[in-house]
Amino acid sequence: MAYRWKNTFTRADATPEAHFLNRRAFVGAIAAGVGLGMAGSRASAQDTLKPNDWDEITNYCNFYEFGTGKEDPPRYAKALTTSPWSIEVDGMVDRPGAYDVNDIMSEMTIEERIYRFRCVEAWSMIIPWNGFELADLLAMAGVQDGAKYVAFETLYRPEEMIGQRYPVLDWPYVEGLRLDEALHPLTIMATGIYGKPMPKQNGAPMRLVVPWKYGFKSIKSVVRITLTDKEPPTSWNRAGPQEYGFYSNVNPNVDHPRWSQATERVIGSGLFASRQPTLMFNGYQEEVASLYEGMDLAKHF
Ligand code: MTE
Repeated sequence: MAYRWKNTFTRADATPEAHFLNRRAFVGAIAAGVGLGMAGSRASAQDTLKPNDWDEITNYCNFYEFGTGKEDPPRYAKALTTSPWSIEVDGMVDRPGAYDVNDIMSEMTIEERIYRFRCVEAWSMIIPWNGFELADLLAMAGVQDGAKYVAFETLYRPEEMIGQRYPVLDWPYVEGLRLDEALHPLTIMATGIYGKPMPKQNGAPMRLVVPWKYGFKSIKSVVRITLTDKEPPTSWNRAGPQEYGFYSNVNPNVDHPRWSQATERVIGSGLFASRQPTLMFNGYQEEVASLYEGMDLAKHF
């Protein structure tokens, strides 16, 4: 592995507020596909992932609540109050309620997951997230029979989120997953990066990460999670239904109407580096292709 556990441990160890990193789970999830029944050799593509550095990940952001420029979120997200913070879990669950993020975190096993991250704008990074499986949070709330989708909502607080003073999107930012996508072991609620708490510009205190989908599905600063039997509306689909579908799986064979999705610009690879080919499901085909068996992915883009 080009990226060794030890590097992470060193950084995490140097950070007093670092969350507990579960070494076994990390090694298992990344090197051998634990929970997915995958042979270690088949995960070899993931073994060489070398994460982007902290500055790249935290200075080149999309978080329209703080402006549309890449440098707006690092500049303006400082104003966001992230404590106290609770997530309302409601809809078709046995135990609805406002869950304090600290209580959630104390119940969950925080692991490191080094994932590819591919934005629909055709740039990519590799990010060493810390987080826990969304499935564990949903189990805590108790998903009821008949629930088919999970809807997510970001905080609406225009006093602190200056981008929300402009009608760039229909606020609050909302997203959604099919229940089987939400329960997939690759789907996490991320609570940090490089063993440090989630920076505000990256979606503090907790954001979704779905590594086989375009980055806009990975909704930041979540305040509501709703279990429902209807496909929930999503912000980018509402803003441009011809351009952004509900599924938004990374797919090099289905272009965005205004640009190709066949290749990507790897952030940090240098100004003159060539673009990399984009991988089907962002490289997670072995793990997730079965979720979409029999579906026309050009139609359900
Ligand atoms: N979540 C909210 N609430 N608001 C946003 O504007 N942008 C999305 C996604 N989640 C966004 C969001 C997009 S387009 C991308 S590419 C990723 O966040 C960027 O995540 P990063 O800045 O941590 O790399």
